[in-house]
Amino acid sequence: MRRFGIAGKASSRTKTAAAVVAIAALALTGCGRSESSAGASGSAGGFAKDSLIGVALPQKTSENWVLAEQLFNDGLKNAGFKPDVQFANSGVSEQQNEISTMVTKGAKVIIVGAIDGKQLGTQLKQAKDAGATVIAYDRLLENTNDVDYYVAYDNFKVGQLQGQALLDGMKAKKANGPYNVELFAGSPDDANAKVFFDGAMSVLKPKIDDGTLHVLSGQKSFEQAVTQGWKAENAQKRMDTILAANYTTAPLDGVLSPNDTLARAIITSVKSAGKPIPVVTGQDSEVESVKSIMAGEQYSTINKDTRNLVKQAIDMVSKLQAGQQPDINDTKSYNNGVKTVPTYLLPPVIVTKANAKEAYANDPTLSKLTQ
Ligand code: BGC
Repeated sequence: MRRFGIAGKASSRTKTAAAVVAIAALALTGCGRSESSAGASGSAGGFAKDSLIGVALPQKTSENWVLAEQLFNDGLKNAGFKPDVQFANSGVSEQQNEISTMVTKGAKVIIVGAIDGKQLGTQLKQAKDAGATVIAYDRLLENTNDVDYYVAYDNFKVGQLQGQALLDGMKAKKANGPYNVELFAGSPDDANAKVFFDGAMSVLKPKIDDGTLHVLSGQKSFEQAVTQGWKAENAQKRMDTILAANYTTAPLDGVLSPNDTLARAIITSVKSAGKPIPVVTGQDSEVESVKSIMAGEQYSTINKDTRNLVKQAIDMVSKLQAGQQPDINDTKSYNNGVKTVPTYLLPPVIVTKANAKEAYANDPTLSKLTQ
């Protein structure tokens, strides 16, 4: 079954239905347990403990990427490896060059958080030809055979939680619909953006179809909702335009925002239009958004603790070093257009003001904001 593939191979309705079935199947088969990753390549024989491990991160489009840099450097060193952690702030070609350099330097594992997971095929092939193992981190690497594993938070579930939070938040303010909502998605070059949107729409589309939700702009497709580069200014501009065209008199009850950076941009736009702040979702538990949630402005975010994701990726590296198969708990969901990539998925957690204290109890930075 195809849960998340390359966009455009099935109608979104079919894909959404398939996704829901896949989620249900995963739940039934106990997603979260470790299975052996029979058939996954890249671990034969292990490698020297002090080997170079490359980590190619994208741009700093959200706090989670910034946190990942330090966590990878410290965690890989503590595990005995030599880390080479790079950002690609100027874009795809910089990331391509960085991966090539990691291969030349003899990296045994290359962990990639791709800017555009479809544009690294040549470099990933170089990596595999040189005997390295390739791990996709947070974002899937698409249209390539040359990826061995994927480690991420469950992206579809993130979207589902966002969609449900939007409904719950609006219901708490006004018991019955109809509600006016607008929809935002992430950057179309990021493989996660469509998955987040599809997850959210699996919850919201039935409510649009039955008239509970109205999207006054009419912009309901992923293509219409995208935010290039995950840039706050792009989301803010689009919200400004939508407000001016559709909401001079009509109320805006809710906005689906795929992450915190965009949520704050949307809230800024609404405030400068002089409108009351609608229910706005988010993701990443960024400091400014957690403050906003505690102040009663942004409605929700998602906790995807970066420490756990990096730890899981480093655990994969340690297993490979020892010549063992890394833990995976999903062998079906992530078809990248060429192959189904053995995956380890972590569970995301929805956070609102109501559960923030509990959700961040173990986070030294965020727990201080929820006192
Ligand atoms: C990550 C999100 C993040 C976004 C922008 C996505 O791939 O999964 O957590 O908000 O990138 O940086």
